Amino acid sequence: MTNNAGGSRLFEATTLGPLALPNRLVMAPLTRNRADADGVPTSLMATYYAQRASAGLIIAEATTPSAVGQTYANIPALHTSAHVAGWREVTDAVREAGGRMFVQIQHGGRVGHPDTSGHVPVAPSPVALPEEIHTADGRRPSVVPRELTVDEIRSTVADFAAAARRAVDAGFEGVEVHAANGYLIHQFLAKNTNRRTDAYGGPVEHRIRFAVEVVQAVADAIGPERVGVRISPGVGVNGVEEGDTDSIYPALVAALADRGLAYLHVVFADPDQPLFQEIRKTWPGTLIANPVLGWGGPLPADGGRGAGERLLAAGADLISLGRSFLANPDLVERLRTGAPLNAVRDQYLMYTGGETGYTDYPTLDAPALVAS
Ligand SMILES: Cc1cc2nc3c(=O)[nH]c(=O)nc-3n(C[C@H](O)[C@H](O)[C@H](O)COP(=O)(O)O)c2cc1C
Repeated sequence: MTNNAGGSRLFEATTLGPLALPNRLVMAPLTRNRADADGVPTSLMATYYAQRASAGLIIAEATTPSAVGQTYANIPALHTSAHVAGWREVTDAVREAGGRMFVQIQHGGRVGHPDTSGHVPVAPSPVALPEEIHTADGRRPSVVPRELTVDEIRSTVADFAAAARRAVDAGFEGVEVHAANGYLIHQFLAKNTNRRTDAYGGPVEHRIRFAVEVVQAVADAIGPERVGVRISPGVGVNGVEEGDTDSIYPALVAALADRGLAYLHVVFADPDQPLFQEIRKTWPGTLIANPVLGWGGPLPADGGRGAGERLLAAGADLISLGRSFLANPDLVERLRTGAPLNAVRDQYLMYTGGETGYTDYPTLDAPALVAS
């Protein structure tokens, strides 16, 4: 096999705090709904993640810190000892295959449904998701969430910290706090979902307070060098309209900058965007960039390698890829050698449970695994 890596920095060994990474490619968190009905990770998940252990770092999918924080059916959780035991099987399998793993902690806020979680969702303000939500029985109208009291905000912060402790007990190297993509923390950041008039709402310094408190509590619980944060500036997914993107993120990044965190992870990072450049200048540590590859359309033929290299040249330290890792267990080897990539199969197979479209993507070494 020819090696046409051509000196690309993507394939250089590097470090992330105390961790040695064999390359700069990160598997982005991808919700795949393969946990059991109680949120306990399954053996199938251990197989899936171990298949992808050649990533420099795996960030495991969004995982709920509490029952009320659950977004969708069959997503994994981290609020019982059964969850810890299930995840332990996954981290052991990944470690045995030579990999390293963080886990993303996600509270859905208003992105949740009583049919899924058994609870009325909670949020900064009683503003419903303006679209239907996926449940085990299909799409359902969203419900108006209940506004969190200040005491409940404090206990939610504590839930994130407790989930982080469990993540370490389960064998993860660290956790990623999910402050992106319209879930609870992002709902506090955005004007249209945060109508509070107390210390958690109103001006930017108030709207970033919840994010900062969660991150600090998690850092206090497991050590800042084990904590990353994911943000999605200007991304309007799940009905969020930030209103003042160019003020929120400089303030948030500055507030997080001196806490010794493992990394900041930026979704849909564009090297030509002034806000991305400002974030890079403000953030003193490792920056993971998730390139813009064309959402809703096919992936570029190079799987994101070119976009990743442009972001490294613009100051990113690590590059995260989602769909390319989903479809290519041996993505690093394929990108390094220029081998062709598997395409993501039928969208629906991403969420239906089971092996199909999950653990049956072929590798270069095992093309026979191809499903018909
Ligand atoms: C099936 C699927 C599940 C996803 N689940 C998550 C998730 O759990 N947490 C998250 O922050 N982003 C999630 N994302 C977004 C990805 O992490 C990533 O930002 C996005 O796919 C863009 O990267 P890509 O173009 O390399 O796929 C998901 C994306 C897909 C396609």
